[in-house]
Amino acid sequence: MAEELRIAATTDKEARYLELLPQIESLIAGETDQTANLANVAAALHQTFGFLWVGFYIVKNGELVLGPFQGPIACTRIGFGRGVCGTAWKEKKTLIVPDVEKFPGHIACSGESKSEIVVPGFSNGEVALVLDVDSKRLNEFDTADAVHLEHIMKMLARSPH
Ligand code: SME
Repeated sequence: MAEELRIAATTDKEARYLELLPQIESLIAGETDQTANLANVAAALHQTFGFLWVGFYIVKNGELVLGPFQGPIACTRIGFGRGVCGTAWKEKKTLIVPDVEKFPGHIACSGESKSEIVVPGFSNGEVALVLDVDSKRLNEFDTADAVHLEHIMKMLARSPH
């Protein structure tokens, strides 16, 4: 991609996040049910950016279990330290994977997924869930995605459930 196009794309993404964040804030402000809020956040991100897959895995009894999502069907359970999601859980940090084929142990739920970002959400300092976003394009995600998606996870943590 030419540098000007790359900058335009980045700016456009930033603008979309800045428009989306207050919408998400008000979307979840009036609702206390976690499933309802996760479902709407997945839909809002999916619709705004057209990502291949947007969804949540929730920590239940020592593993990640599939939660609300938008996109193709996905694997239902992921172990601690497994795949990108289980690694983000183990390392308690956001992982940006520019090329999923280069991530050792990546779990391919869809053959169409080329890059991925996984953002953990915390409750009392422990990972309680992760947000997983997959793209059909290589190198889709950068620090701007990490910053804004982490902000969304903090908003979700504030909403009671
Ligand atoms: N790729 C993920 C698995 C979940 S799907 O992409 C929806 C992983 O490696 O953890």
